[in-house]
Amino acid sequence: MRSHYSSEVNETLIDEIVDICGWVHRRRDHGGVIFLDIRDRTGLVQLVFEPENKEVFNIADGVRHEYVIQAKGVVKPRPSGQENPNLASGKIEVIGQQLQIISQAKPIPFQIDEHQHVGEDVRLKYRYIDLRRPEIQNRLIQRAKITQFVRRFLDSAGFLDIETPFLTKATPEGARDYLVPSRNHKGQFYALPQSPQLFKQILMVSGFDRYYQIVKCFRDEDLRADRQPEFTQIDIEASFMDETQIQQMVESMIKGLFKETINVELDEKFSTLSYAEAMEKYGSDKPDLRIPLFFVDIKDIMKNEEFKVFSTPANDEKSRVIAMRLPMGCEKLTRKMLDDYTKFVGIYGARGLAYIKVNDISKGKEGLQSPIIKNLSQEALDKTIALSGAQNGDIIFFGAGKSHIVNDSMGALRVKIGEDLQLYTKSWAPLWVVDFPMFEEADDRLYALHHPFTSPKTNDPVKLLSAPEKMLSRAYDMVINGYEVGGGSIRIHDQAMQSAVFSLLGISEQEAKEKFGFLLDALQHGAPVHGGIAFGLDRLVMLLTNTTNIRDVIAFPKTQTASCLMTEAPSDVNKEQLEELAIKIDMESIS
Ligand code: AMO
Repeated sequence: MRSHYSSEVNETLIDEIVDICGWVHRRRDHGGVIFLDIRDRTGLVQLVFEPENKEVFNIADGVRHEYVIQAKGVVKPRPSGQENPNLASGKIEVIGQQLQIISQAKPIPFQIDEHQHVGEDVRLKYRYIDLRRPEIQNRLIQRAKITQFVRRFLDSAGFLDIETPFLTKATPEGARDYLVPSRNHKGQFYALPQSPQLFKQILMVSGFDRYYQIVKCFRDEDLRADRQPEFTQIDIEASFMDETQIQQMVESMIKGLFKETINVELDEKFSTLSYAEAMEKYGSDKPDLRIPLFFVDIKDIMKNEEFKVFSTPANDEKSRVIAMRLPMGCEKLTRKMLDDYTKFVGIYGARGLAYIKVNDISKGKEGLQSPIIKNLSQEALDKTIALSGAQNGDIIFFGAGKSHIVNDSMGALRVKIGEDLQLYTKSWAPLWVVDFPMFEEADDRLYALHHPFTSPKTNDPVKLLSAPEKMLSRAYDMVINGYEVGGGSIRIHDQAMQSAVFSLLGISEQEAKEKFGFLLDALQHGAPVHGGIAFGLDRLVMLLTNTTNIRDVIAFPKTQTASCLMTEAPSDVNKEQLEELAIKIDMESIS
């Protein structure tokens, strides 16, 4: 039916006959001549229908926006002055000789190039219309190219694409599971995988040596701009490789990907930060290193000050007191921005935002402007200014309180200021974050910082058991521009060590057996040293297509409340289906 895509019709085809298929993007009637811009996934081409060819002209006259048509015509140069340099087909037009309407279209809920006038909910409800937008089509085309590149890279590095089950048992990645009721085993449930973690480890035990899969994962967790309940991982596992080898290999994959898709040369070698250093300087384990702002610790300086807001946390082991200098902040920030930032840190639990405007250092306190300076000694102020490196015209922001609140609030403020003031020093800042602690402590118990199959930096379970809170893990995260794009580790391949980790996590022997007995068993039947990583494909596509909204890179995404507005999933099911599954809905608990 089609001889050329729209953007393939150009001046090399002058006087040739072409067959065009697509959607009517625009229809204009100019003094008795009808122009139709026909759209397909490659772009637009202009068809012209002249009244001399009466029959065809009448069909063109009846055509409306978004009708699907098929046309035959001859390629001619556009009259001088009417070329469109923005189109690949902008130098030509096709003089229509035949026209057939394949499908009519009702008036559409929003015009393709006026999508910004409607809410995202309308666009998601009519996703088939929204997906006609060239912007989003290009993102999905890029996405397909990205997965193609990744497959090519991993195939040629000897990795095997092996599928793992979706109907499975819970895998502990830290989120809630999506459960699927079983009809054959009434009262029992499958869990959709949060990741193929356990299966890929078992594949290593079986000797497959190098595995990958581009695979959907399911996590019932609070959604954010970079999170979806079902998302795609580039999941990788290899045997007989250590962390340096795995990191090097996937680093070269990511570099190749950036080069091929957006022609960007990433750093020759990604920088590496320890988790401790990342938290210390940026309050985050996924710092955006394009932003040249960082924290300095002023706990020691504030310990003996009378100002309780600083001295109380300065004397508390679980608290922090930090300063963050914003060069030329006095000029760059308005009063309103400072008020907004105070509200902003409040979202993360900070009680306020202290800051000092450094007007003239040589004038001592006189040269500083802030309600807090009267509460601080000259010595503390001098030391803070020296340590933060502040100069005249700068603003120093302060964070004081429980460490997690200071990290969250000041870390987010750092990113916000960086974005608001466009402080970026470079376009791309990839890095590895390493040396994560094995565990974090909360509610008087230990949680795995990655997942419980991550190897500690020791082969001795006794050593781990003696001081678990101090033990570092062999995990590594890849971070680009503040996004955690991938995370992985060397795994535990020894059953005794795996049992030790489970016991530290409060997982009893019985529970471990019930949940992961197959893995513990497998580890006793000849397990190689192994490790791997999983990249968030959606996040990589976001970065490579320059969007901060994960829904822009997924054809049929879910909303913030995990629904699909187009299909209206999730939805009620009929009584018979529930009966078959022996499920009763407790209507009282549905508010
Ligand atoms: P992790 O949980 O870190 O590791 O996930 C790997 C990567 O997947 C992406 N990601 C998400 N993307 C979109 N929406 C989500 N809800 C979401 N959750 C995670 C992130 C993240 O870095 N089994 C381990 C990997 C391993 O150890 O090999 C795992 O799943 O980019």
